[in-house]
Amino acid sequence: MRTPERLGFDTAPKAQPTGSADLAENASPLAGSALCVIGGGFVGLVSAAGFADFGHSVICVENNPSRLEKLKSGKIPFYERDLDELIARNVKRDRLSFCAELKLSIKGAKAIFITVGTPSGKDGRTDLSALDKVIQSLADNLEPNQVVVIKSTAPVGTARKVKEKIALLRNSSDAISVISNPEFLREGTAVYDFFHPQRIVIGGDNQEATELISNIHRLGMKQNTPIVVTNNETAEMIKYASNVFLATKIGFVNELAELCDKIGVNALEVARGMGLDPRIGSDFLDPGPGWGGSCLPKDLSEYIGLAHAHDASVTIARAVREANLLQRNYVVSKARDILGDLENKRIGALGLTFKAETSDLRNSPAIDIIRGLQREGATILAHDPVANGDASQLLENVELCDSAEGVAKDADLLIILTEWKQFQLLDWKKIGDIMKSRYVLDTRNLISPEFLRGNGFTYVGTGVS
Ligand code: UDX
Repeated sequence: MRTPERLGFDTAPKAQPTGSADLAENASPLAGSALCVIGGGFVGLVSAAGFADFGHSVICVENNPSRLEKLKSGKIPFYERDLDELIARNVKRDRLSFCAELKLSIKGAKAIFITVGTPSGKDGRTDLSALDKVIQSLADNLEPNQVVVIKSTAPVGTARKVKEKIALLRNSSDAISVISNPEFLREGTAVYDFFHPQRIVIGGDNQEATELISNIHRLGMKQNTPIVVTNNETAEMIKYASNVFLATKIGFVNELAELCDKIGVNALEVARGMGLDPRIGSDFLDPGPGWGGSCLPKDLSEYIGLAHAHDASVTIARAVREANLLQRNYVVSKARDILGDLENKRIGALGLTFKAETSDLRNSPAIDIIRGLQREGATILAHDPVANGDASQLLENVELCDSAEGVAKDADLLIILTEWKQFQLLDWKKIGDIMKSRYVLDTRNLISPEFLRGNGFTYVGTGVS
């Protein structure tokens, strides 16, 4: 096994034209650093490969033997666009390596980024057991001046507790800096998001440490990328508040879409008119079957739990969670309205993942909607371009087809649940010919109503009459 090497190399600091003859002495204090990223999951792999691409020397620690073997052989254990190429490029340049041994991997690292999973626990609060395990292993092996960075989404107050725990576990009085550095990566566009952040958020109470982490990011970011430097708790809350707001915005437009359905107004047009107001913004105003994934649900749950623990009302956040579950029922009711009743009806479901360009089925509205249709007696066939295999573990009595045509054959209704581009490119004329009746329920407003209606379909969207 290749032992982690520390490649001492200087990335030429990006000299900024200052007009003076020799830029060298004015170059910013940016240079590649030795970094360690602990946790080879979605956030860890994107961050480790991204930092390596900036010019840092990164060791990514992964303690799951099969996942580690896959990574060492250049395989990514999940689907994330461009990530395999980014990893391969930096492994080839010897800027990125993978290792199981945490203690060995942190040696000489300027900063240690913790990117282990922080899933929802049974009580809806965040399960920090993986983070605790890492801190237990780290504490006594940290070198003076090494900076611990919590990049995993961690409840408000975690960094401070980690700092206290490290102080308790170490037999030395040197204060270790613990920085909060939440990520804002979206599944499906995580590599793009890493290289084009809207902002970098850094929380901590030691200026040297916050400057170090700022510079580690600056090496590869546009120099005008906003960097918010604040305290730990504020940085932690920025992450939660951002995700809760995004869930709120989506929930708002879904509720608007139901009302628009009922009064015959086009919700997409309304959203377009709204979004032109910079105070509102057009992103995250696409009506759909409800939000899913691993982050919005767990972060909303943690936020609500934190509020309850401190006797804060968060009425809106609780309503957002409730409304999101009701949106799934609304989709089932639309299918019922189209077909009269769902008993023995044959319904083809296109898309199972919680959004396109990912293989992630966690909290996917598609799964809940299919179960709701089944509860009313429908027979379901389903197709997802990447997640059929995983879906078979979640769905019972659903025939998973290798193609959209397989799903459409003799179907009474086709329901589009995930906005995969492949579904736009289908031969819809052929699809119509093989269906029993040409009904399409497009929960994502993916396909043009005029096009489908022009091909003899009865088209129903979300908030578009
Ligand atoms: C989210 C946040 O966007 C990201 O910043 C954070 O770091 C992690 O959580 P992610 O969960 O990967 O990212 O996906 P996102 O693109 O936010 O979509 C979340 C859900 O909302 C998906 O189910 C998506 O289909 C849905 N959605 C999104 C809508 O229904 N309408 C929209 O307009 C946008």
